[in-house]
Amino acid sequence: MIRKYTYGTPFNTEAVVTDIPSEHGAPAYGTVSARQGFSFTYVMEKDDIVYGLGEANRGINKRGWCYISDCTDDPNHTEDKRSLYGAHNFIVISGNETFGLFFDYPAKITFDIGYTRMDTLTVSCEDSDLDLYVIDGDSPYDIVKQFRCMTGRSYVPPKFAFGFGQSRWGYKTKEDFEKVAQGYRENHIPLDMIYMDIDYMDAYKDFTLNRDFDDFPAFVQEMKDQGIRLIPIIDAGVKIEDGYDVYEEGVKNRYFCQREDGSDFVAAVWPGDTHFPDVQNPEARKWFGDKYRFLTDQGIEGFWNDMNEPAIFYSKEGLEEAKEMAEKFARTGTSNWDGSEKGSDETEDIGVWQLGDKLGSLANSPEDYQRFYHNVNGEMIRHDKVHNLYGFNMTRAAGEAFERIDPDRRFLMFSRSSYVGMHRYGGIWMGDNRSWWQHLLLSLKMLPSLNMCGFLYIGADLGGFGSDTTRDLLLRFLALGVFTPLMRNHSALGTREQECYQFEDIEDFRHVIGVRYRLLPYLYSEYMKAALSGGLYFRPLAFDYPEDPMAKRIEDQLMLGGEIMIAPVYEQNAKGRYVYLPEEMKFIKFMPDGTISEEILGKGIHYVEIALNEVPLFIRAGKCIPVADPAECVDKIDMGTIRMLGYEGAEYLLYDDDGVHKDYNLDRNCRVLQY
Ligand code: GLC
Repeated sequence: MIRKYTYGTPFNTEAVVTDIPSEHGAPAYGTVSARQGFSFTYVMEKDDIVYGLGEANRGINKRGWCYISDCTDDPNHTEDKRSLYGAHNFIVISGNETFGLFFDYPAKITFDIGYTRMDTLTVSCEDSDLDLYVIDGDSPYDIVKQFRCMTGRSYVPPKFAFGFGQSRWGYKTKEDFEKVAQGYRENHIPLDMIYMDIDYMDAYKDFTLNRDFDDFPAFVQEMKDQGIRLIPIIDAGVKIEDGYDVYEEGVKNRYFCQREDGSDFVAAVWPGDTHFPDVQNPEARKWFGDKYRFLTDQGIEGFWNDMNEPAIFYSKEGLEEAKEMAEKFARTGTSNWDGSEKGSDETEDIGVWQLGDKLGSLANSPEDYQRFYHNVNGEMIRHDKVHNLYGFNMTRAAGEAFERIDPDRRFLMFSRSSYVGMHRYGGIWMGDNRSWWQHLLLSLKMLPSLNMCGFLYIGADLGGFGSDTTRDLLLRFLALGVFTPLMRNHSALGTREQECYQFEDIEDFRHVIGVRYRLLPYLYSEYMKAALSGGLYFRPLAFDYPEDPMAKRIEDQLMLGGEIMIAPVYEQNAKGRYVYLPEEMKFIKFMPDGTISEEILGKGIHYVEIALNEVPLFIRAGKCIPVADPAECVDKIDMGTIRMLGYEGAEYLLYDDDGVHKDYNLDRNCRVLQY
């Protein structure tokens, strides 16, 4: 049962696809105040759990921190951070009373979940113009399913996108890409995609290619012949440069975000000064989306959309202010840190730290987000009022264009920034993580939360994006990545080279990634079932074992699909880990020699040994899963070699299709496999 409460005049975010009439009166839970801003307050019982919030910091149970939905480009997301790249304002309170809440509000909104007072949940935002959806159901999972139904079917990528991909910021020339392809193929490590980061473009201009790619279609084909797809990045900012068609068309048609005075807003990002396409405006969105044709016409089948919070290194205005401050600093000659010591007769002196702060806060500043506007049906809406929708609409631009380009075909698409609703057009990656063990665990915790908010095609930069990785961290990251729909190794410019063949004992990488391909028939099948039924691919244990008090507290194991539980190792130098089994299960290890070890373990806590080159999983009692032989790419997986693993006598319902077209059908494409 979903009830909608409307406050003020909300902006239509298009997150919700079903028509739900607004109720009069107050929600059955908590108290709402809609005077001078909006707030919702609910007093939690001691043991209530709060799920949701999608891409957010900290635990699966969100209690104990304050989160702010305010899409932010923050590569240093340490535990104290409140905002990441996405805004997914859906939570489920599970406990004394169980209900779901979706705050459909496109600007900054704060979720204080037991931070100010441990027992109090307060959700608040500046304007009282929003729709609040209150969802009742039999269980948290039932509530999630209703939410998923009201926000529309999750995006379905092509099957090749379930393969493994290699990425690195810095690949520039054909030779760089050929080297990666060779590194993988020669070492027989499976690979389906190589990602093209910003250097493939000419001067970071969207929808251009640098001089090295003269016959691009032939190069795309050369890679495809090896079973490898090239996946280029598209950034939000369009470079300001005379003669550049995208820039000139955008200016001429007024498709860029403008300042209050009608001039095009200028933000510096990778290409230098850029304009932002006004993807909130349907006409501009169509125009920008159609630009992807430049690459699809040359054989490209997938993209990743980046810098679409939108990230701003600095604006013209911001830079001017900083320069003034620097000049003042130079004039006053103060060298103390806070400016308290007068160095001249100016009334206000600038300290070293103040100047540092000013320069440090140039990027992604709230002031800049107030400097430009979107044209929504002729009405100019200031960006900060709809900030969290930019990534959604940039990705929607592409998704809508793909429908026009080839309505029957699936394209790979995932984005950095997102809002609920974008899950219909693409997946996400979890942004710029670091080569830290703690980010391995954080990415695991985000998986079920993101699924609840509709995002199924998800994954983290395996090995870690920033900082130098280590061989053991990468292997453990990959052993989790085996199970994430998006499985990509990505790293930042200047960090240690992170391709799997850069490390000793390459066979371990071949094996771990090989397990992904052996499990792919199962993983794809479970993905499709979750997408087509509005279900969850990843679930907290509590969703499957609601009566088990121990299962409710587990934060480092997940249920995946209907048959398995995963429990990756996430600690340096660990030889294994403790795992809690809520029922008897078969403990499976894919061993480096290609064999599979099986052991039945009873309900309870166990210490299981898991070497760096082993991939563990647990099969639920009475269930079985299909396993194929390893293959070098998805197209080469031989469904004829499938054998069953798990409990003899069990049956598995396998979903399969051609992985290319949109002929999704749960009934037609499912068949029963017996063990
Ligand atoms: C951003 C992206 C990262 C990419 C880099 C260069 O930091 O998040 O994935 O490699 O930009 O394009």
